[in-house]
Amino acid sequence: MNSASELGLRRNRINSPLRNLVSSESLNPKKLVQPIFVAENLTSPEKMSSLPGVFRDSTESILSQIESDLKAGVEHFLLFLVPGTKSDVSIPKSFYEKAIGGIKSRFPEAFLWVDTCLCSLTTHGHCGLLDPKGRIENVSSVKRLSELALCYAQSGADGISPSDMMDGRVASHRNILDLNGFQHVPIMSYSTKFKSQFYGPFREAAESAPGHGDRSSYQIDVRNREDSLLSSVRDAAEGADLLMVKPGITSIDLIQPIREKTGLPVGAYQVSGEYASLAMLAENGFCKFEDAVRETWQVFSRAGASYLITYAARRGKEILY
Ligand code: PBG
Repeated sequence: MNSASELGLRRNRINSPLRNLVSSESLNPKKLVQPIFVAENLTSPEKMSSLPGVFRDSTESILSQIESDLKAGVEHFLLFLVPGTKSDVSIPKSFYEKAIGGIKSRFPEAFLWVDTCLCSLTTHGHCGLLDPKGRIENVSSVKRLSELALCYAQSGADGISPSDMMDGRVASHRNILDLNGFQHVPIMSYSTKFKSQFYGPFREAAESAPGHGDRSSYQIDVRNREDSLLSSVRDAAEGADLLMVKPGITSIDLIQPIREKTGLPVGAYQVSGEYASLAMLAENGFCKFEDAVRETWQVFSRAGASYLITYAARRGKEILY
């Protein structure tokens, strides 16, 4: 555990959007985070068939999307970057700088979290680097991920959001950020992230499906309650500022115990498959989309979630009021 002076409690007080997100108030539109996708090889926005109302954008077209989202009341964005060329050895720094820098120079008021993972960058689609036998190599993976985290912060990211599930990544990111003058940049960790069937639509959007095998050697097994709790407790001890359970729907029972064990704000990620299932029910006339989304958000809130990451964040005001 960090010493009290190293806890960095000020990071969650740094500005108004962040104070709104981590507050102990009940659910309101300021507690919603909107995922956004920027793909290097796109020139115009592309609709996502399984996620109505969600697009993949170019570095240019994302600006008008964010402009309208800010007008709709969104304060927080979670950015997924999809490089045009896959690589297991280098980081496409100029694309990252262009995408993140472009957004932040135009909209300094938008709180921009950047998802930190290797799966949309690597040729094999795994969240870490592989050894010659095709097994995840934890040490080199964490090193590369921390280089990514630093590159994002240098490009203007407000917060870093590690989703790879390697061991030790939170401590390593905190360390590299602090050493380079980014002590104020918070880490919102995907701290309890399960291996799940509900990420399907996302993997299409992020071009990140593993080419071989699956993610069970690094993402948590849904049957393992101890691991689910330990994983968040560990990230808290390594210096995470916000924790998260994911998918939201399969983690409802874990939110409160994680809060009690860590004292940190815990969010829920309503993932692509959860959103797509509600959209499909609604499209077939079996429910009203907005009402179904509100119902799920109310349950996350009842379960103790401080904030929600949801593809419907941009419709938050309309859905909640
Ligand atoms: C990257 C990542 C994934 C999601 C968020 N970050 C996919 C995965 O782990 O395979 C899923 C989000 C969603 O389904 O909406 N590792």
